[in-house]
Amino acid sequence: MHSQATPSLLETLRTGTALLHVALEKRLPFFSERLDTEWYRRLLQAYYGFYAPMEVALYDSGLITEGFDQVLRVKTPTLLHDLNALGVDERTAHALPRCTELPTFDTPDACLGALYVLEGATLGGQVLRREMAQRLGVNADNGGAFLDVYGAETGRRWKDFLDYLGSLPLDTPAKQRAVDAARSTFSCFEQWLDSQEVLL
Ligand code: HEM
Repeated sequence: MHSQATPSLLETLRTGTALLHVALEKRLPFFSERLDTEWYRRLLQAYYGFYAPMEVALYDSGLITEGFDQVLRVKTPTLLHDLNALGVDERTAHALPRCTELPTFDTPDACLGALYVLEGATLGGQVLRREMAQRLGVNADNGGAFLDVYGAETGRRWKDFLDYLGSLPLDTPAKQRAVDAARSTFSCFEQWLDSQEVLL
């Protein structure tokens, strides 16, 4: 067990991003009465415009600490699959606007912070998947695969990710770099979604 004086990396990430999570959650339209299929498609297009460059930046950085299986965890192809199912063809998808103001990943610690946000989002996805299935009839075959990107593996993958985080010996400055990047990932994502006019 860690003493209270030295919170674990996970605790640092959780407390450091909790408010940003609540703020973004409130502005996402998944539970809005006004959300229709068209808005949902625009929302996924905006997600794609963030995840695509984020995953490229992270995976091309060469800074992801060993033990993270990026082949297993890549999510952009699933977003593309959903967009196709919603009538956005490959060419149109590739021409969609992409976020250029991404967080900076210049250390392995910063990468961990960003990965925490992208992996954690799969948990909320489970709630959103059910809501979208119920309200818009969206499932894995017709535009809802991203919200259930790991399917039945969601819990297991999250646990594996937490084991990975827990196995890394980060000192206090390193944890600070991780939480800064996690916070920056939340705020860049929110600003990007805002600029794409898909938030409440
Ligand atoms: C309306 C949208 C969202 C809802 C309803 C939601 C809901 C949730 C829920 C219920 C959990 C906790 C699951 C559990 O403990 O088993 C969770 C965790 C998390 N979510 Fe979200 N979420 C939403 C959007 C997002 C987005 C857009 C991101 C980031 C891009 C995100 C990042 C995270 C992270 C990092 C965690 C892990 C927290 C931790 O346990 O350390 N969420 N979310």
